[in-house]
Amino acid sequence: MPELRRRTLLSAIGVTATAGAVVTSQSSTASALSGGRGASYEGKVRDLLSRMTLEEKLGQLQQLPWSWDLNPGSGSTKEVEDAARAGRLGSVLSIFGAKTTNALQRLAVEESRLGIPLLFGLDVIHGFWTNFPIPLAQAASFDPEVTRTDAAVSAKEARSNGVHWTFSPMMDVTHEPRWGRIAEGSGEDPYLTARFAAAKVKGYQGSGYGAKETLAACAKHFVAYGGAEGGRDYNTVDVSESRLRNLYLPPFKAALDAGVATVMASFNTISGVPAHGNAHTLTDVLKKEWDFDGFVVSDWTGVQELIAHGFAEDGADAARLALNAGVDMEMTSTNLLTNGKQLLRSGTITQRRIDDAVTRVLRLKYALGLFDDPYVDESAAITEPSPDARRAARAAGSRSMVLLKNDGDVLPLKKSVNSLALVGPFADSADLLGTWVVPASAERFPAVKVLDAVREAAPDAKVTYARGVDPEGKDTGGIAEAVAVAKAADVTVVVVGEPAAMSGEASARSDISLPGDQEKLIAAVAGTGKPFVVVLVGGRPLTIGDWLDSAPAVLLAWHPGTEAGHALADVLFGEVNPGGKLPVSFPRTVGQIPIHYNHESTGRPFDANNKFTSKYLDLPPTPQFPFGFGLSYTTFELGTPTASRGSVRARALRSGDTVEVSVPVRNTGSRKGDEVVQLYVHDVAASITQPVRRLRGFERVTLDAGASTTVSFRLGADDLGFWTNDPSGRFLLEEGTFELFVGTASTAGARLTLKVT
Ligand code: NOJ
Repeated sequence: MPELRRRTLLSAIGVTATAGAVVTSQSSTASALSGGRGASYEGKVRDLLSRMTLEEKLGQLQQLPWSWDLNPGSGSTKEVEDAARAGRLGSVLSIFGAKTTNALQRLAVEESRLGIPLLFGLDVIHGFWTNFPIPLAQAASFDPEVTRTDAAVSAKEARSNGVHWTFSPMMDVTHEPRWGRIAEGSGEDPYLTARFAAAKVKGYQGSGYGAKETLAACAKHFVAYGGAEGGRDYNTVDVSESRLRNLYLPPFKAALDAGVATVMASFNTISGVPAHGNAHTLTDVLKKEWDFDGFVVSDWTGVQELIAHGFAEDGADAARLALNAGVDMEMTSTNLLTNGKQLLRSGTITQRRIDDAVTRVLRLKYALGLFDDPYVDESAAITEPSPDARRAARAAGSRSMVLLKNDGDVLPLKKSVNSLALVGPFADSADLLGTWVVPASAERFPAVKVLDAVREAAPDAKVTYARGVDPEGKDTGGIAEAVAVAKAADVTVVVVGEPAAMSGEASARSDISLPGDQEKLIAAVAGTGKPFVVVLVGGRPLTIGDWLDSAPAVLLAWHPGTEAGHALADVLFGEVNPGGKLPVSFPRTVGQIPIHYNHESTGRPFDANNKFTSKYLDLPPTPQFPFGFGLSYTTFELGTPTASRGSVRARALRSGDTVEVSVPVRNTGSRKGDEVVQLYVHDVAASITQPVRRLRGFERVTLDAGASTTVSFRLGADDLGFWTNDPSGRFLLEEGTFELFVGTASTAGARLTLKVT
């Protein structure tokens, strides 16, 4: 069987059954230190390490939490300050502010014995002062440049405020819309997620995070967190090696190839072994197979939670298991710091493994330039979103929106409209920032409200407003007023959806329809018989009830961030022609979950004329809206796709040869617009059953009315092969027939055949 092995396996040093494997990084194709610059620090790191006591080493592996509104000396931060002074602390999280970070840094640099600087981390996920759309929305742009820009703007703002390291990007592929954390990732597809993960890492880290405008990034959560059973956060994941490698691992590999500095372990188990104690994923795959020379941070109390998982006996056992599995730094809980000495004495952890972990941490501190300049210039701290940052967030917001329906061209609205009603719980709401917001930014820079932005965009129109219902509860008392304003207006925009608090961490929902009585509001507005548009805000796919039939137009806005209202008004009035596509399938009902385009073939694929095929009796087999779907105010036509050849030798592909697939695309409508051309592959017969389709290429193009272009993709071995169930990592490119689908959604009809011989 032809086989392609694509990894560098470094020899493990000091591997024993009880004490963890230590992997030294040599050359770094996947260097965490932006282009292999790590090598230049090795001498300095070794020298420093040779002067450190065991306590100081264990200290470097400890991260403690801060609270953003506290200052050193306030009393409640004494534990962190004492640890910094004593040289028993490597990093602090949830801290920012030039003054605050400098003051704390001074304790470590000027008062501790060796003066090793602290590393300051923060969840800068989709913005610091300037909030960009949530990551799931960004993925809907199908334009990795959107996420690169978010990261670059965020890095500049955060670094000037003393932050060195962000716990982002999150790259957990998931087929679970009930899972609140779907908002933080790029949806259901590993290829799309990988492209966005790489772009975001590059945006944060720039060409090297020693620069003052960059942040070290963190690929999280390693790994398979998106597979949580039932979508309940922190839940069990049972996954085969092939699914692990084909579905969950590719974005992490892409992040590593982009030079990501750190990796965070995930809260879930992976086939029975918690991710924080999982030597297979953390050491065998990440550190050995992928040659990762950065460090692994635990998630918040993730080491301690090995006890609750029923995996560790007590704190000492948890520390032993985590360190030996490959965790390098413990976030919040203090099991390694407390028990390290005793564990070392008993021989259940090794000095070598501790030194390896400390080396990884120090390497990053050197690469960040912290030993040369541990402080930030307080007078240069960015204190508010700049006009440029706002412009970028606004563009990202509108670029991420997805037009789901537009019967009779209700949209775009005319600015010359006489009267316009805005109704719904999110029409006059600032709850549009999304799940991860730096606390001070939410207070100081609330999202631009839709009502304000619409009034600004159409100053001559009479704009009326009624809330109708509240977002979560059952307060429907305002529906009559909403109906009255809708009746009196030429057109109504109904802004409904989920509050930000309903998505993100610990925010699973069992019912993912519009919360409360918002559907009643839509029905009441529909009852007026006047034209209306539904704008959906939220952090996940929603099940859209019968109201869909009654609504002439539906625009998915997600949580668009600081410039939410402006971004939405741009799309509503056609300043921006929507071109986003769904990065995740929208199920018809919760009972249909999991439903995703990249499901594997079954022996009895759906057949409407045969009861004994895979389906529900009471639902069509398709989702409400498929992956990759989205409309525009114009129309596009794809020509016949062609491939540079109909057959190719497996051997040639393995040595880097590619097949080019091209398709002409034309804007057939009357206004400029964007289309996302998508390429999917299907391996017709494989030794491991393959997904019915896999996205392997996409490109968002902008075309003037009547204009056309040709989009081309290159398919190589990576695109046609797959990982097997071999735990040591076996990538196969098998001979046989491949179907290629080219189109504007995952339902693309145009098909080509490629033979691999
Ligand atoms: C827990 C979350 O799972 C993780 O994503 C986050 O980075 C840490 N807390 C730190 O806040």
